[in-house]
Amino acid sequence: MRLAIEIFDNDGLNFLARWAHVLAGIAWIGLLYYFNFVQVPAFAELDAGARNQAVDKLASRALWWFRWAALATFLFGIMLGFIPEVSGGKGMFVEENYFKSPQGVAIATGMLLGITMFLNVWGVIWRNQKVVIANARNVLAGGEADPNAAAAGRKALLASRQNTIFSFAMLFFMIGAAHFFTLGTFDTADNRAIYWAITGIIWLVLELSCLGVIGGTGQNITNWMYEDHKRAIGVGLVMVVVWYVVWELVF
Ligand code: HEM
Repeated sequence: MRLAIEIFDNDGLNFLARWAHVLAGIAWIGLLYYFNFVQVPAFAELDAGARNQAVDKLASRALWWFRWAALATFLFGIMLGFIPEVSGGKGMFVEENYFKSPQGVAIATGMLLGITMFLNVWGVIWRNQKVVIANARNVLAGGEADPNAAAAGRKALLASRQNTIFSFAMLFFMIGAAHFFTLGTFDTADNRAIYWAITGIIWLVLELSCLGVIGGTGQNITNWMYEDHKRAIGVGLVMVVVWYVVWELVF
């Protein structure tokens, strides 16, 4: 009897990276949805003392899994692009003209959104949540409340709601890369510059809004979509349709 451990061949390694990528991805995005759809509305109904306890014991733990799952998703995703799927072949990112193909343009769109979300996690959400957690712990220990904590919480909230908005289109393109856009009759040989110009503008406007560069961090017309999670879900789903229509029109 021969024990063939094919999981350590290139095909197997690509598959393992894919499995780990999706496993980490569901942990990350699952927690993102928990924060947005469950925790934020629930915390709003708690009094300050109970909220500080919950931030200290619950949110801090959820944020630990959240940010490390985001890093693992990102790293396994990049690995996936470089490990050949067929032994002896090339990793998809190093295949000639890959990023000009429908699959390449779709995965690049998914990655643009996924990497932006990853940077929002570490650069905005976690950076500001550290201030919120430190404040909660300090107050619980009898210290003075930090006057900057509320503003920090607001910045984290905007980025978190924007990540919810991005998440739907991100997954649409990420899964569609291998399972939809390659199968259709899309022709990405020309017009990619137009596609990337439109995609770039949509992406930039949304990201600059959540960073407060457009419209500040207060409640105003540009931040309308961030004011509750149902709006963020609605805008996220509309963005999938918008992006898909742009794709169809251009390609
Ligand atoms: C953070 C940045 C990310 C990068 C750089 C990245 C990269 C990739 C790459 C290169 C692929 C392979 C595409 C193909 O085979 O055509 C892929 C597939 C996939 N990714 Fe991501 N990804 C990221 C985020 C995410 C997130 C947050 C999720 C959420 C669950 C996710 C879920 C998936 C799924 C489900 C697939 C398809 C697997 C398959 O159909 O075989 N990715 N990703």
